[in-house]
Amino acid sequence: MQSITEIKSLRSQIKAWRQQGLSIAFVPTMGNLHQGHFSLVEKAKTLADKVVVSIFVNPMQFGKNEDLDSYPRTLVQDKQGLAELGTDIVFTPSVETIYPNGLATQSFVDVPGVSEGYCGGSRSGHFRGVATVVTKLFNLVQPDFACFGEKDYQQLQVIKTMVHDLSMPIEIIGVPTQREVSGLAMSSRNGYLSEQEKDVAKILYQVLLQSAKQLESGERDFKTLEANANLALEDAGLKPDYFSIAHRYTLQPATSSDEDFVILAAAFLGSVRLIDNIQVGK
Ligand code: PAJ
Repeated sequence: MQSITEIKSLRSQIKAWRQQGLSIAFVPTMGNLHQGHFSLVEKAKTLADKVVVSIFVNPMQFGKNEDLDSYPRTLVQDKQGLAELGTDIVFTPSVETIYPNGLATQSFVDVPGVSEGYCGGSRSGHFRGVATVVTKLFNLVQPDFACFGEKDYQQLQVIKTMVHDLSMPIEIIGVPTQREVSGLAMSSRNGYLSEQEKDVAKILYQVLLQSAKQLESGERDFKTLEANANLALEDAGLKPDYFSIAHRYTLQPATSSDEDFVILAAAFLGSVRLIDNIQVGK
């Protein structure tokens, strides 16, 4: 596995592969890799001749009071895991390499519609930061495929919309959420939780499953389903940020004529923000 930090070296390797007619699959990450990330890399391996993984904790997508400084950084273990999976390049640029002129004057990419509400509502500027850095990384890596987790469902829809709207020649592949045995969605932020807290955190998925079951059995009183779920989360000691039933692709609030749903949820456990979702329908 090649470990690359500079844009020039990355571009020259990508160019060489292109000249050989090789295809490229890309997995952007912020590191502190777990089985969720590795499942994306495994998927990427099945799609293309070469796999590039980036590790970059992107300051542009963190709010002022969020965990940018404390975000877990475990580069040595991350690289070891990626090498074992047969990753071809791990790209780990510095903040200065990605934002040489700082953030204040950085051009950006906004994706209206799907970026609004849910995590976009609670984390102002978050999806602008994600869309901008992913665009930059796409321009550097120039992949044929890029893999994103369904765990960050709204992010996946933002990227799919951006690629479609801006005619980027990249196929976006969604990969199912990897979970702990308890059902808790794997996340780098789970490292902030004690074992006791993880026992509470897993209830988020249980409440999602409960609501999904009711939707599947034909319940269409979305407001009541959402209110009951919020109560169940509060009873368990979680502080709901949102619990919303939406159309699976547009992310607009669900209507009774919809057939494909996604239930999107975010909740705080202390200062840790958990997100998860479940798809319902065909
Ligand atoms: P990060 O949180 O590191 O996640 C990188 C990728 O791994 C994302 O596509 C995310 O959805 C996926 N992922 C995380 N946990 C997962 C799980 N339990 N199961 C399946 N996939 C999972 O998401 C980001 O980084 C950043 O916003 C990024 C896209 C890299 C832009 O900075």
